[in-house]
Amino acid sequence: MRQTKKVYVKTFGCQMNVYDSERITEHLGANGYAETATIDDADLIVLNTCHIREKAADKVYSDLGRLRELKDERRALGLDTMVAVAGCVAQAEGAEIVARAPVVDLVIGPQSYHRMPELLVRAKAEARTFVEIAFPEDEKFAHLPARSGVPARSASAFLTVQEGCDKFCTFCVVPYTRGAEYSRSVDELVTEAEKLVARGVREITLLGQNVNAFHGTGPDNQAWSLARLIRRLAEIDGVERLRYTTSHPRDMADDLIKAHAEVGKLMPYLHLPFQAGSDRILAAMNRKHTAAEYRALVRKIRDARPDIALSTDIIVGFPGETDAEFSQTLDLISDVGFAQAYTFKYSPRPGTPAAKMDGQVPEEVKAERLVRLQALLEVEHAKFNAGCVGRTVPVLFEKTGRQDGQVIGRSPYLQHVAALGDKTLIGQIRAVAINSASPYSLAGTVQAS
Ligand code: SAH
Ligand code: SF4
Ligand code: F3S
Repeated sequence: MRQTKKVYVKTFGCQMNVYDSERITEHLGANGYAETATIDDADLIVLNTCHIREKAADKVYSDLGRLRELKDERRALGLDTMVAVAGCVAQAEGAEIVARAPVVDLVIGPQSYHRMPELLVRAKAEARTFVEIAFPEDEKFAHLPARSGVPARSASAFLTVQEGCDKFCTFCVVPYTRGAEYSRSVDELVTEAEKLVARGVREITLLGQNVNAFHGTGPDNQAWSLARLIRRLAEIDGVERLRYTTSHPRDMADDLIKAHAEVGKLMPYLHLPFQAGSDRILAAMNRKHTAAEYRALVRKIRDARPDIALSTDIIVGFPGETDAEFSQTLDLISDVGFAQAYTFKYSPRPGTPAAKMDGQVPEEVKAERLVRLQALLEVEHAKFNAGCVGRTVPVLFEKTGRQDGQVIGRSPYLQHVAALGDKTLIGQIRAVAINSASPYSLAGTVQAS
């Protein structure tokens, strides 16, 4: 019998990479690789990388430096180690990676993961490095094997419904690393959702770089909107909760807003990046909406679903941003009120228009704005969480906590909720009376069912 090899996968970046890593691991599993959590034992190390900001990309090279030492140490013991770089750095930098880090055996872009086992065999047999970063005509999901019956890692799972982006915000690499927008078919997604449920998943988060631009082909051969897909997935027995991310304000269609009012399984939480509060900066970013349009959109969404919690992404120090323009970002935050926010210092990315714009903002100024922004957001998050104290909310328990006898789950608003209770609660949705809050989490008491 062929001996099982071991694979260690390290994931950087967004949830789409988390989903891809899971699919890669499953695909390699069907090709003789068992997953290991110990990097020293791995015959194959896969770095699933992110190119969104300079720091994220740099991490890959420092990791590759360490992997060279690990490979040498294992070689001294007579063990062979292969290294594959996947994800968005692979797509963006291709052969440059091999030039900078000869330790790499395979560079593979996000559209080619179905070819990984075959390319690894060839790289080994031919003792050379392969770089596979074309955007193939055929679709990777059609070639990856169907999801297996192995139990899910958690009661909550990701499902990529849409990949790529045609929006070309001037700061962003995603349209280059993930290519043009592509939506998977409804049948394929229903089948995958049913498989996830059979594995014990109760909550599914639909993923896409622009998830609300979803337009997958339905069983009627028509293009289905995200709202229609959500309604179809909500019909599946065992799917208890649905979420989706990331949405673009421009694609927040009326039927999607209506789904928030009508589909009980669709959680009252929406990640809706606004990036900046100044119209001049929004235009320079090519976001194609104004701050007033964003405010109006939020009002419309809250009219449909008054308790919806909003989260957002914000960039500080985009080229040319003045202090007064940055203040407009702070104003927008105070006006809207966010339950959660992800904040970034603008990072110039090779090949993007903003990287060449005049008025690049000095690092100290970006750092100072980030501190002010985060101070305001912490107050906002604390306010949102404090507002939940005294309420009873349904919590999907996902894991044990750090303290003995503690379990951790998520509220409908995606807050972490800690409660006392035993492991049998994991995978269950239970009513929890919330009795305390911090800016980061809630704590409460599980109610008798
Ligand atoms: N598709 C999503 C987000 C993709 S990237 C959207 O359109 O909102 C996730 C977040 O990273 C972005 O929302 C943005 O806030 C941030 N980001 C992207 N490029 C960046 C850059 N060059 N510098 C700093 N932050 C960036
Ligand atoms: Fe990047 Fe803009 Fe596309 Fe989002 S919408 S992935 S920020 S280009
Ligand atoms: Fe990073 Fe690629 Fe996701 S650049 S944020 S891993 S789409």
